[in-house]
Amino acid sequence: MQGKIAELRLAALQSVQEAASVQELRDARIRFLGKKGELTQLLRSMGSLSAEERPVFGKMVNEVRDELEAIWDKREAELFRQEEEQRLKAEAIDWTLPGRRPNIGTLHPITLVINEAKRIFTSMGYEVVEGPEVEWDYYNFEALNIPPDHPARDMQDTFFFSEELLLRSQTSSVQIHVMENRQPPIRIIAPGKVYRADADMTHSPMFHQIEGLVIDEGITFADLKGTLQLFIERMFGPDAKARFRPSYFPFTEPSAEVDISCIMCGGSGCRVCKSTGWLEILGCGMVDPRVLRGVGYDPNKVSGFAFGMGVERIAMLRYGINDIRLLFDNDVRFLKQFGR
Ligand code: DAH
Repeated sequence: MQGKIAELRLAALQSVQEAASVQELRDARIRFLGKKGELTQLLRSMGSLSAEERPVFGKMVNEVRDELEAIWDKREAELFRQEEEQRLKAEAIDWTLPGRRPNIGTLHPITLVINEAKRIFTSMGYEVVEGPEVEWDYYNFEALNIPPDHPARDMQDTFFFSEELLLRSQTSSVQIHVMENRQPPIRIIAPGKVYRADADMTHSPMFHQIEGLVIDEGITFADLKGTLQLFIERMFGPDAKARFRPSYFPFTEPSAEVDISCIMCGGSGCRVCKSTGWLEILGCGMVDPRVLRGVGYDPNKVSGFAFGMGVERIAMLRYGINDIRLLFDNDVRFLKQFGR
């Protein structure tokens, strides 16, 4: 019997040594010390012993059991600590690695320019309004003093749905909607999309304009000049100069086109301004009395000015973009250079 206990003890010690993980160690413990374990079985076989042998044998088994329990506990704690250490090492985080930036979008250069224009004009007391992109011929042409056979219609290659219905070719149509619905004083800008059958490096079939309209008593060309001068300085910087050139638009009289001093060369002449030192950025003028009468205003009581500018053109100048199509390809690598 003694030999059996010693044998079992050695086998148990060996399995403690061989156990490579907490789990293996626990399995082995159950095998030897569990309810149906080998040592427990040995204890059960005591029935066959004599009355004198029994307590001696029982004591021996219990001693061995206590010894083994203690060894198991100690080894389990060791293995547990080792495994924990390995786990922490494997899960270690390197705080010095650069972070992964979430890919957040940026505002489109067109949006940036429109936002900037809105900021500039609202700071001067203007209200921002919108009008429909699908428009009646009346608002896009007729009410703007462009009758059906007027040659000015050829200036803009318009997309027609029918004889009466079209995609607006200019935001000037919004002028009419506003004047039809309100009485002076009026001070609005109307940014939005316009459409013309035209496509090359500087023309896109869809592009953006910002229309402006001011109507009140005693508005003069000086107000127009001062307003646009201020806008240009704020949009292009304090050194940007404005030049007014006489021009023609059916809905304004007199009319002008406005150039800014070339922002590439400062006016000395370069490729962008074709050696002229100037870049055209908008059309404007005093609202024609025929347009005022058409919406029921009395041209003897009120007067006003209007202007219209191309947003893509301004964005291309401001950001040095040489092909309008870049603005609509939606290549993220291009777009993210401009936004914040
Ligand atoms: N609508 C004109 C165009 O698309 C631009 C324009 C010129 C607008 C003169 C105006 C203006 O309001 O007064 O070419």
